[in-house]
Amino acid sequence: MLSAELSYNTFAPVYERYTAMVGKIAEAQETAAFLEQFCNGRSALELGIGNGRVAVPLTGRGVTVEGIDTSDNMLKLLAKRTSLIKAWKGNIADFNLGQRYRLVYCVYNSFMVLATREEQIACLRSAAGALDEDGVLVIEVRVPDFEGFVGGQKTTTMLVDSENTFVNAEIHDPITQNLTQTLLWFTGTSVRRIPERLRYVYHQELDTMAECVGLELAERWGDWKRGAFTSASKRHVSVYRRTRLKC
Ligand SMILES: C[S@@+](CC[C@H](N)C(=O)[O-])C[C@H]1O[C@@H](n2cnc3c(N)ncnc32)[C@H](O)[C@@H]1O
Repeated sequence: MLSAELSYNTFAPVYERYTAMVGKIAEAQETAAFLEQFCNGRSALELGIGNGRVAVPLTGRGVTVEGIDTSDNMLKLLAKRTSLIKAWKGNIADFNLGQRYRLVYCVYNSFMVLATREEQIACLRSAAGALDEDGVLVIEVRVPDFEGFVGGQKTTTMLVDSENTFVNAEIHDPITQNLTQTLLWFTGTSVRRIPERLRYVYHQELDTMAECVGLELAERWGDWKRGAFTSASKRHVSVYRRTRLKC
């Protein structure tokens, strides 16, 4: 049984280096700028806050950010970076912090770490319950892409430089929509294995799940700069608000 907690505990010591190499640190300010616009001076909650890659720059813009994460080691990284962010160890599939936020957000495919449809709906339900009256939920998730899969599997060389080789091995189960993958990171004479089970969703399924918990799509973009979401988009940034009664 794959555990996200164990995987991210293993990932934590190299998470910052990894996210720097794949360009995710470079876009964190852009992500924070997008999210800030929804806060209106109110607080925000990040689901799967990790090391604060986005939460720290969002805090730097004057937003009070809180977070939830399942991995002790990721939470320790966050605590090392800042004392301004309150974070809980918990499961984003089922939470109730007893307070409301103007913004709840889940970025960098963290929604996909919930490996069943039921857990994903439960997460959306918990998130909806944590929004204040005018609050929004923002989800950034990649568009499913099966290019290169042969016989339900694919191995991708993600990065090679003079010190590192990243190879990702994936198996696709179209019945559960699971991608079971292991990132292999070779450096010097060592290799780290970071296994993970993800569940992909198309944007339309995400909308339907959101509708089930009383949310409706307000905006959808192809990137953090509000580029259009098109058939060429690799990801989407979707903004949900409480469903408004139509007269
Ligand atoms: C892809 S990382 C993203 C971290 C951070 N949001 C970022 O953008 O860099 C996913 C994060 O979700 C956390 N996570 C995985 N499964 C979780 C769960 N069921 N509940 C809470 N956090 C979870 C991991 O520990 C990890 O920190």
